[in-house]
Amino acid sequence: MNPLNMAIVQFVKLLPKSVVHIFAKKYVAGDTLDDGVRVVKELNAKGIVATIDILGESIKTRGEASETKVQYFELLEVIDKHKLDSNISIKPTALGLAIDVDYCKELVTEIIEKAKSYNNFVRIDMEDSPFTQVTIDIFKELRAKYDNVGIVLQSYLRRTYDDVVDLNKIGTNYRLCKGIYIEPEEIAFKGRQEVRENFLKSLEKMFDDGNYVGIATHDDYLIKESYRMIEEKKIPKNKYEFQMLYGVTEYLRDKINSDGHKIRIYVPYGEHWYAYSIRRLQENPQVAWYIAKSIFSFK
Ligand code: FDA
Repeated sequence: MNPLNMAIVQFVKLLPKSVVHIFAKKYVAGDTLDDGVRVVKELNAKGIVATIDILGESIKTRGEASETKVQYFELLEVIDKHKLDSNISIKPTALGLAIDVDYCKELVTEIIEKAKSYNNFVRIDMEDSPFTQVTIDIFKELRAKYDNVGIVLQSYLRRTYDDVVDLNKIGTNYRLCKGIYIEPEEIAFKGRQEVRENFLKSLEKMFDDGNYVGIATHDDYLIKESYRMIEEKKIPKNKYEFQMLYGVTEYLRDKINSDGHKIRIYVPYGEHWYAYSIRRLQENPQVAWYIAKSIFSFK
């Protein structure tokens, strides 16, 4: 980290939590499940659907992984009780992926079954590249048994198009995004346009083979190109939705909504927002970005 960035990090650490909260709160619903419910109700009132993520800390034990599962059970109950139009997003490492793959699979299975009992859906977020293959393996195993589970692919990864070809064979509900982690050039495209091209190439293949896609981007170029593809290929409304992060490019969100496309907002909540924010800031001192980025990373 360069000296200026280091100084920024040190400075932010000295700020009172309440001040850091000013940055965080735009991207995080709040500390509690009630905050998540409130935000989703507001979105639903505008005709916008949601996916809720519980912000977690880096976990080190099976007990902590199991605690994450219990929190997701409670979340599913509350979504049902309040009749929210929201599914859930889970991160495999919050459910023990880095500790014990089989245990993680067990917990993810339990969450999917619980969601099924509420007629709900589970999106498995994609984390950084050491976890790509194992996440796909878990998804494929679970997809063979359940239809209420979907996965995320990242268009910055060079492997992604091949993964699409493979996952299309089992009929996959995708979220397609660019990817948020810092990955080495050997495995990831670095150019802005290359990442976009791989996004569109992957999207086209997903559509051509009849899959459902959550088009997760705030990039107006990609949104325009997706509109064009949807129109040209006459993709029916029950085969796609747009997705954005809470607090980001709300004008685009509202435009997509008023254009008559389904739009889903990723709503994170949880008490760990501060630790998250500070840790992310140490890695990436661009204040405008770090909190939203932290949502996708535990390490
Ligand atoms: P780009 O980064 O070019 O952003 C386009 C414009 O949008 C920017 O110029 C800026 O104006 C605005 N913008 C975008 N992100 C912003 C932010 N955080 N704060 C402020 N402004 C912002 N990644 C991952 O690796 N695994 C995952 O599971 C997911 N899941 C996921 C779900 C959903 C619903 C979304 C929208 C995104 C993700 N991501 C993710 C993150 C994704 O990979 C990507 O990093 C971000 O969406 C930013 O990429 P864009 O396509 O928006 O383009």
